[in-house]
Amino acid sequence: MRFLVRLLGGIWIATLVVTGGFAYLEVQDERAKLSQDLQRRAALAGDAVREAAEPLVARGARGGFERVLKRFARPDRGIAIYDEFGSVLAASVDVKPFLGPVLPQVSEAIQKNAAARQLVSLGGRTTWVHVVPLQRDDRPVGAAAVFLDAQYLESSEWSLWRRTAVRLGVLILLLSGITAILVRWSVTRPIARMAEWTKQLKSGHPVALPPDADASLFGSLAMEVTGLARTLARARSAAEHEARLRLHGESVWTEERLKQFVQMRFDDRRIYVVSNREPVSHVREGRTIREIQPASGLVTALEPIMLACGGVWIAHGSGNADFEVGDRLGVPSTDPAYTLRRIWLTADEENGYYYGFANEGLWPLCHIVHERPLFRAGDFEHYRRVNEKFARALLDEMAGADAPIVLVQDYHFALLPAMVKRERPDARLALFWHIPWPNFEAFGICPWQDEILTGMLGADLIGFHTQFHCNNFLETVERTIEGRVEWDRFAVVRGQHTTHVQPFPISVASEPGDGPPRSRASLLAELGSPADLLGVGVERVDYTKGLPERFRAIRRFFERWPEYRGRLVFVQLAAPSRTRIPRYQELQQEIRDAVRKINEELGDRDWRPIIYRDWHHDHQEIRAYYRASDFCMVTSLHDGMNLVAKEFIAARDDDDGVLVLSRFTGASGELRDALLVNPYDIEDMAEAIRLAVELPPEERRARMHRMRAQVREQNIYRWAGRLLAELARIPEPTHIEPR
Ligand code: F6P
Repeated sequence: MRFLVRLLGGIWIATLVVTGGFAYLEVQDERAKLSQDLQRRAALAGDAVREAAEPLVARGARGGFERVLKRFARPDRGIAIYDEFGSVLAASVDVKPFLGPVLPQVSEAIQKNAAARQLVSLGGRTTWVHVVPLQRDDRPVGAAAVFLDAQYLESSEWSLWRRTAVRLGVLILLLSGITAILVRWSVTRPIARMAEWTKQLKSGHPVALPPDADASLFGSLAMEVTGLARTLARARSAAEHEARLRLHGESVWTEERLKQFVQMRFDDRRIYVVSNREPVSHVREGRTIREIQPASGLVTALEPIMLACGGVWIAHGSGNADFEVGDRLGVPSTDPAYTLRRIWLTADEENGYYYGFANEGLWPLCHIVHERPLFRAGDFEHYRRVNEKFARALLDEMAGADAPIVLVQDYHFALLPAMVKRERPDARLALFWHIPWPNFEAFGICPWQDEILTGMLGADLIGFHTQFHCNNFLETVERTIEGRVEWDRFAVVRGQHTTHVQPFPISVASEPGDGPPRSRASLLAELGSPADLLGVGVERVDYTKGLPERFRAIRRFFERWPEYRGRLVFVQLAAPSRTRIPRYQELQQEIRDAVRKINEELGDRDWRPIIYRDWHHDHQEIRAYYRASDFCMVTSLHDGMNLVAKEFIAARDDDDGVLVLSRFTGASGELRDALLVNPYDIEDMAEAIRLAVELPPEERRARMHRMRAQVREQNIYRWAGRLLAELARIPEPTHIEPR
């Protein structure tokens, strides 16, 4: 309130000074104009009277004066004629009573033989007096005076001040009203909402996201408060989580435990992550820049580790506004926990390394999806150069750091481990391969298999999701390059260097939910669907994910069980991916056509069986769908792990919901309570959908409960803890043999 009064006081004073100042100048101007006009009129009248009276006075012909008065006097203009001593010879009636013995202006005009003028008060009224000498042979023989009423000068001045006062009053009222409303809407209310939100946060109840504050108004303060509140909320929920676990005697890995573990095992040694995909991208939307988290299982998994341990994450800056934001930034922007170092790639590098060798070559090579890999020498050359570029950046970042810990991610960087290890043998280097590893025959079609394998074996530790992929890898090494594979301890020895190969099934953070879930009814209402049952799928549009097969199964389900038409809707959140690759463009078209056809053939005016949303959705939105749906479908034709399956389970803090899961995902090895399907078997999948909506609630809950326990225990902190523990066990710094 005091702030408002001060603000309004300031506005009032400013308005008063400005309006008053301008009014003063206006009054002066008006007054000057009016008095000029008055003087001009008086001078004209004076000349005219002089012309008529001069001969009469010169001749002493008094009889003519009355005629002069009659001719020139008016109600607002008095006339007087004087002799050479300044005595009145004749005067018009309205001024006559007020003319004293001698008017000073008259004496002055006669003495100086020149016109005299002045503003005087005559009979209580302001009057302009203009006196001209009457001459004979150029000598003054008398004078003629003109009296013009000048009272209106004052009254017009006053009316101007009055108008100004009214204007000022209205202006002050309006400004005060508008300011009060603006302050209420833009300052008081947001602050009150923020305060209420902070209060709820303090009370320990689950709360939704903080209300948006106007960044242009509160700027960095709002960001800091929000960041601080989020950190507090995270810290509190982590502490509660820890306490709960201790109470139940559970030894689950948590963010805090990982933090402590890293400090104990590695002291102050820094962690460096290298991946192609960055944890946050900046994209330009009109005049603003938005921060998004790319759709990537890798990011979902690695981000909690970096939040817990800090360090440097080196990744390709691929957002269209990344360059504007910069190549080194603290993440998250609201409360930085680690540093993102962005690497810029030219269009040719990106095409050859990412779209070409990594995603048209290695990606189909490693997935059994009957998609022929494309190997081009130019692409491999770019792949090698980009690996070098990242290696150089990593070496720069690590300069001065003692025995750094490096976690290299995925098939984009098969050559990097050897490049780095050669320069920094003291670094502890792990490479985690997020996709499957094929059998040695399949891998053998890669023209650069030797380079790939020797590059990877620069790492001290190579991780895959499953033992099966580890075995495939070791067999590939054994049959392809020189070196000793020690099957008893799953290691490859080449010269002095040993690489350990182990399975580390990746997972998600599995943390308590953030705020109450959105109701299914409100989600469906927003989608405009009359259905009451909801299925969901969340994928990048990729041919490994089995989307066409899934939609065929949905069609089959509605054909076999038509009673569900109008009652069930399947929402597919599909993030566009690798869209420059022709195969991905074809797939997008194929899927859109398939969805349209199914909707046309099975749907009606109100109900569509499939709602296809092919754009980026953020974590909050995806979580809302996970939590509101009856079932989630993951139907990959082949998948290293698949974190959508685990994210869905982690989101279901109501212990409800059914997971339909492809048996060709790594996740199916752990989540045995999912409804496991063969995505190539359409009847099998249709049957699984029916089961998903018809499972008795107790069984549904029991299955979800067991899966949640599994995901809670085998979470991402445990994954990171195990991987780092293995890395720490590796004895002395080793050096790699020159090739
Ligand atoms: O599965 C391999 C992988 O790199 C994942 O880690 C990630 O989810 C996905 O591919 C992302 O692909 P991209 O980075 O090409 O969009």
